[in-house]
Amino acid sequence: NRISLIGVPLDLGADRRGVDMGPSAIRYAKVREKLQDLGYEIDDRGDIVPNRPDACHQDGSNLKYLDEIERVNTELCRIVAEELDKGRFPLVLGGDHSIAIGTISGILQHKKKVGVIWFDAHGDINTAETSPSGNIHGMPVAVSFGLGHERLIGIGGKTVTLDPKKFVMIGTRELDPGEKILLKKLGVIVYTMHDIDIKGMAQVMEETIKLVSAGTDGVHVSFDMDVMDPLYAPGVGTPVFGGLTYRESHLAMELISQAQIVTSAEFVEVNTVLDHKNQTAKVAVALMRSLLGEQVLPDD
Ligand code: ARG
Ligand code: MN
Ligand code: MN
Ligand code: MN
Repeated sequence: NRISLIGVPLDLGADRRGVDMGPSAIRYAKVREKLQDLGYEIDDRGDIVPNRPDACHQDGSNLKYLDEIERVNTELCRIVAEELDKGRFPLVLGGDHSIAIGTISGILQHKKKVGVIWFDAHGDINTAETSPSGNIHGMPVAVSFGLGHERLIGIGGKTVTLDPKKFVMIGTRELDPGEKILLKKLGVIVYTMHDIDIKGMAQVMEETIKLVSAGTDGVHVSFDMDVMDPLYAPGVGTPVFGGLTYRESHLAMELISQAQIVTSAEFVEVNTVLDHKNQTAKVAVALMRSLLGEQVLPDD
């Protein structure tokens, strides 16, 4: 029952500054105390501090800030692996979504068959060839499947990659043309907002939990705050209307918690510059509590 908090104040993978204050905002929303309340022991590993954008060298490839993003994720990979070694639950605080590259590489140092539940308005499955922006936060899913720039794929020097058949996307509503092609080709399971409207979140989660837990030795939850409707989570760099409600998001977390399958998690893309009174960080902490077992009235 020990959680290790790892902050990654990285915004170089995103187009907009402000996500670099995400870990501070989440800590300011009392993540530590609010998880301690649930009975966890918390180890705060502090932040992995990236260099300022103007201090980063640009290597001329169309991937923005590749060097620094590689360095930060290599460090994150090492720390996540270390915490798993100690038997702790890594809870990574972002930062832009490119940090999933480091988190997942770290997990793959230990577990060979990992299921992932990816909550996101976006697919984040671009490569250098398909990316319209060159922003690496739009690429971590491709990298986890072993696709994309060799220096990103190479992080952690791992021999295994994620299995697209054990990877479920939830809340998807904005995909680039190349992403659509790749998702179909790889057979990733995608629950778009339309699917959630039709089936309801409870049904979607039941199917998802079955899929990611069968034949795997762990499940990672990657939660991009922009999966929620901007009404509830305004402080994100790339908001898209028509997202999950507050209750749908909590229901998803609660059902994952009940299933007792999750072995690591990350909450990313909190952008304080665009937020109202730290609302998005507070919502993130509330979701973490649901994911980690909070019940309004506990069963005995
Ligand atoms: N698909 C767009 C891109 O590649 C947006 C990605 C947004 N990703 C995110 N993690 N918020 O640039
Ligand atoms: Mn190890
Ligand atoms: Mn994302
Ligand atoms: Mn997103």
